[in-house]
Amino acid sequence: MPDAALRAAHRVVVLTGAGVSAESGIATFRDAQTGLWERFAAEDLATPRAFLRDPALVWGWYEWRRMQVLRAQPNPAHRAIAALERRVPALTVVTQNVDDLHERAGSAAVVHLHGSLHAPRCFDCASPFALPPDPPCEPEGGRRLAPPRCARCGGAVRPGVVWFGESLPADAWREAGQAASDCELLLAVGTSGLVHPAASLPALARRHGATVVLINPVPTALDAVAQHVLRGKAGELLPALLETAFG
Ligand code: OAD
Repeated sequence: MPDAALRAAHRVVVLTGAGVSAESGIATFRDAQTGLWERFAAEDLATPRAFLRDPALVWGWYEWRRMQVLRAQPNPAHRAIAALERRVPALTVVTQNVDDLHERAGSAAVVHLHGSLHAPRCFDCASPFALPPDPPCEPEGGRRLAPPRCARCGGAVRPGVVWFGESLPADAWREAGQAASDCELLLAVGTSGLVHPAASLPALARRHGATVVLINPVPTALDAVAQHVLRGKAGELLPALLETAFG
């Protein structure tokens, strides 16, 4: 049973995707109708080429998403993951999400595989850029907004996220790979398992002997890798799993 495996595990990895933030009102990418890539063209918004072609379109869209995150609150799934960190000797959260809801729920060790909406940098020289606390109030989808200029070199500031065609941050990927190889249990929550290399982490953990537990309301590409598949919403199933495992 997944609760017994969780209770027995000393080293745990929680791999999260957009589904973990869905109950906070943050859109996922691929859910029918509501997913961002169902409503917006990824090739116009999430590639280096798109930014070079139309920086204001891309910057405005990411500022709209950042504003949504700033207005959102962590949900019971984020809070259960933070609580789990206090129950097991070593827990690493590896997230594909670019929001900061895990941190705001109290998770201390969060590896951001796909970067962060809150850490933009210069497109040219990679210097970090300090964002103003309040982004402009944006309509649905954002409006075109010229990106700020880098104080060091004058280049355009870009969102601090990983775009299609870009490599993952090397340190984050190394840390995630190590944690997945070393863990006794990997819990994959709210991810379609379609984007690699993040999607390869459950299989890596399994090859190294870990128990893989999956939480998702619908079947995913990762189901075949998991010993236990829990079908439902993260905000309901994660607190219930903790309750059964630890009382
Ligand atoms: P997806 O949108 O591909 O998948 C979200 C998953 O969450 C789906 O399998 C949903 O069924 C599930 N889901 C929805 N609501 C849920 C809930 N309440 N509880 C649990 N699960 C729920 O998002 P990701 O797998 O995170 O990359 O996508 C991976 C990457 O693709 C993203 O990080 C992003 C995107 O392009 C970059 O931005 C680099």
